[in-house]
Amino acid sequence: MKTLAIETSCDETSIAVIENGRKILSNIISTQIETHKKFGGVVPEIASRMHVENISQILKSALEEANINLDDIDFISVTQGPGLVGALLVGMSFAKALSYSLDIPLVGVNHIKGHICANYLSHQDLEPPFIALVISGGHTYLVDVSGYDEYKVIGRTRDDAVGEAFDKVARALGLPYPGGPMVDKLAKTGNPEAINFPRVYLEEKSYDFSFSGLKTAVLNYLNQMKLKKETISIEDVAASFQMSVIDVLSEKTFRLLKETKKNKLVIAGGVAANSGIRDVFTKKAIENDIELYIPTITLCTDNAAMIGSAGYYSYISGNKSMLDLKVDANLSL
Ligand code: KG4
Ligand code: ZN
Repeated sequence: MKTLAIETSCDETSIAVIENGRKILSNIISTQIETHKKFGGVVPEIASRMHVENISQILKSALEEANINLDDIDFISVTQGPGLVGALLVGMSFAKALSYSLDIPLVGVNHIKGHICANYLSHQDLEPPFIALVISGGHTYLVDVSGYDEYKVIGRTRDDAVGEAFDKVARALGLPYPGGPMVDKLAKTGNPEAINFPRVYLEEKSYDFSFSGLKTAVLNYLNQMKLKKETISIEDVAASFQMSVIDVLSEKTFRLLKETKKNKLVIAGGVAANSGIRDVFTKKAIENDIELYIPTITLCTDNAAMIGSAGYYSYISGNKSMLDLKVDANLSL
């Protein structure tokens, strides 16, 4: 079964062709990062406009690379939310037009489920049940995934998402948007123990997260150092901030695995590309006898292939959307 998948929730216009939810026949990703960089973050109106300008050409490339025609497609998967409403609308309208004209089913997909399903594309042997840690620019979730279309949220952020904290700290360090990859790079040569930034664990036993206090602590540290006219090692700030994030993420994730007696962990979302997170989680997974799955780097950040995989499992579970399907900027898991 071949799925044509469309993702336009933020600043990547992407279209993929996926076979049986697991095999990528094509996955074209056109990123707008260079445009938004000038503004220090994503400008929603520009994002929507660029999706409109690019989407037809991306469809053409996705079909060419997969070496198929539109007639070979069995159904369309499209991101319904969460994301920027104007950006989502471009992909949704395009998907509806294709579904109507080709007379094939349409399936609306939750972007966060898509991030989790990126792991089915990177790891052919992966099957639920497992615990998923979703860490992206807009979301931080601990999820109990008991089946291919069964998700239960166990913990979530109460303020900033992990990626958001990375991007805000990067900005304070004078690094360009999106700062996550730059913080990752700097952290490699910094000392993670140089500055003792707070670890916010919230109430005992809580699986929720809070990263705004950490972000403020980094900003306060930078301001104090500037006032005292002391030299700041941005490598040490990056490494110490990143280690604080890793400590909190890993404490809660491995505690949940222990409590639920699960031995399989999936990490997903843009921040799963972080080398410090990948290293520490790999080490802890071995120590705790946990099978760990993380997508290949290109499937961590936004792409349509993951939407194709999530759409396939939703479709075979009996879900099909109508042509009056509405985008939902705040769609929850
Ligand atoms: O999943 P994603 O592409 O978009 C959302 O759905 O939000 O995630 C983008 C986020 C950005 O905040 C970016 O800075 C962060 O992922 N990111 C990283 C790394 N690569 C991307 N954060 C830390 N280290 C990285 N290597
Ligand atoms: Zn995303």
